Amino acid sequence: MESKAVVLIVGAGPSGIATAACLTHHSIPYVLLEREDCHNSLWKKGTYDRLVLHLAKEFCSLPYKPHPPNTPAFMSKECFVRYIDEYVSQFDINPRYHRSVESASYDNSEDKWRVEAKNTIEGKTEVYVAEFLVVATGENGEGYIPDVTGLDSFKGEIVHSKQYKSGLKYQDQDVLVVGCGNSGMEIAYDLSNFYSRPSIVVRGPFHVLTREAVHRGMSLMKYLPVHIVDALTVIHAAFFFGNLSKYGIHRPNIGPFFQKSLTGRSPVIDVGAIRKIKQGEIQVVPGIVRINEDSVEFMDGTERKFDAIVFATGYKSSANNWLKDYKYALNEEGMPKNLFPAHFKGEKGLYCAGLSKRGLFGVARDAETIADDINKSLSARNWKLYL
Ligand SMILES: Cc1cc2nc3c(=O)[nH]c(=O)nc-3n(C[C@H](O)[C@H](O)[C@H](O)COP(=O)(O)OP(=O)(O)OC[C@H]3O[C@@H](n4cnc5c(N)ncnc54)[C@H](O)[C@@H]3O)c2cc1C
Ligand SMILES: *[C@@H]1O[C@H](CO)[C@@H](O)[C@H](O)[C@H]1NC(C)=O
Ligand SMILES: *[C@@H]1O[C@H](CO)[C@@H](O)[C@H](O)[C@H]1NC(C)=O
Repeated sequence: MESKAVVLIVGAGPSGIATAACLTHHSIPYVLLEREDCHNSLWKKGTYDRLVLHLAKEFCSLPYKPHPPNTPAFMSKECFVRYIDEYVSQFDINPRYHRSVESASYDNSEDKWRVEAKNTIEGKTEVYVAEFLVVATGENGEGYIPDVTGLDSFKGEIVHSKQYKSGLKYQDQDVLVVGCGNSGMEIAYDLSNFYSRPSIVVRGPFHVLTREAVHRGMSLMKYLPVHIVDALTVIHAAFFFGNLSKYGIHRPNIGPFFQKSLTGRSPVIDVGAIRKIKQGEIQVVPGIVRINEDSVEFMDGTERKFDAIVFATGYKSSANNWLKDYKYALNEEGMPKNLFPAHFKGEKGLYCAGLSKRGLFGVARDAETIADDINKSLSARNWKLYL
């Protein structure tokens, strides 16, 4: 049995949900498939307890639903989850849950996308045929763990940051956090709050800023060129945190906002880890040479014992695992092959939402642009009359 759809959206995270709402705004029907048993599964299941959104609320809303004035400027995870729950009911979005999309390819004879999804409750494969296909499976599809020498020989616990909930179970343990991005720094901070002894691997220079400075910088970018905003932001950070080089933390030569636009790498927004580093409650260690049964050797020649290792080494897009004809829109890494702002659209009616490395702000923008574009091509073909 084949089900027909005008637009098929894969993934009911913020990107898929926002795209659904925007399509409804244009009266375009869609089918939304989600492999988990709920929408917004990353936020509900794959994030640590103490997470507070890093960006101010005006950069974290989805189309047609700004946050009300009584929402705090920086939302807690619960607050954001509630917002998405309300969004889903307000726009009457009904994802088909327990549908794990396993293959999608373009059928040239029919000029349509053919998508196979496993119904994980019934164990059957369902086939969907669609005019347009929207990839909304996220930038965080799979946790990425680098291939470190000796990783398999380690006898303690190894987790990726997406499995990390809180420091509660690591009390009194020596824990190595690999990766000094936002997740790594916040997890090290959280571990230290739970009386564990965290060390964090820092291999290269990175920017660390206060969230207020990031907020101010993002607002100033509307009026000032990026190099001025960067200069002001770096002066503020130098004043606020002081010179951190004696703790092994160095600033890149390139400014934080320019770096974000150039490479997609976000500055670290400090939640308190820097104070703990200065107090010696979090140790900074250099790159790893090898991992042994219960210890790790570092590039400065030292070796330390650890009970657990948390890899906060980022994520990979998992779209290419199921999207056979990814080449119409994505590169080998499952990320857009076209440069921003043309990233959202491929050929043959293939789109991607939420893969622009611009957080929820980018998600909202992609959803609107994609729905507008689908509306335009349906209107041009006069098809909307028949929907
Ligand atoms: C710890 C953490 C903190 C973050 N903090 C912020 C923040 O403060 N501000 C900000 O703007 N952004 C933040 N982000 C970025 C975050 O990725 C986005 O906010 C948002 O979740 C992206 O939404 P998405 O819908 O694109 O992807 P996701 O939320 O990952 O949703 C993708 C969905 O697709 C489903 N799926 C995947 N594969 C399949 C398949 N084969 N078949 C069917 N369904 C599938 C998944 O189950 C999931 O529900 C954070 C991310 C992390 C990990
Ligand atoms: C859809 O596209 C048509 C044609 O370009 C346009 O007239 C119409 O306003 C669009 N619909 C919406 C809701 O924007
Ligand atoms: C920070 O301190 C180090 C020495 O500890 C020094 O070499 C470096 O120039 C200082 N950086 C700045 C920006 O002052």
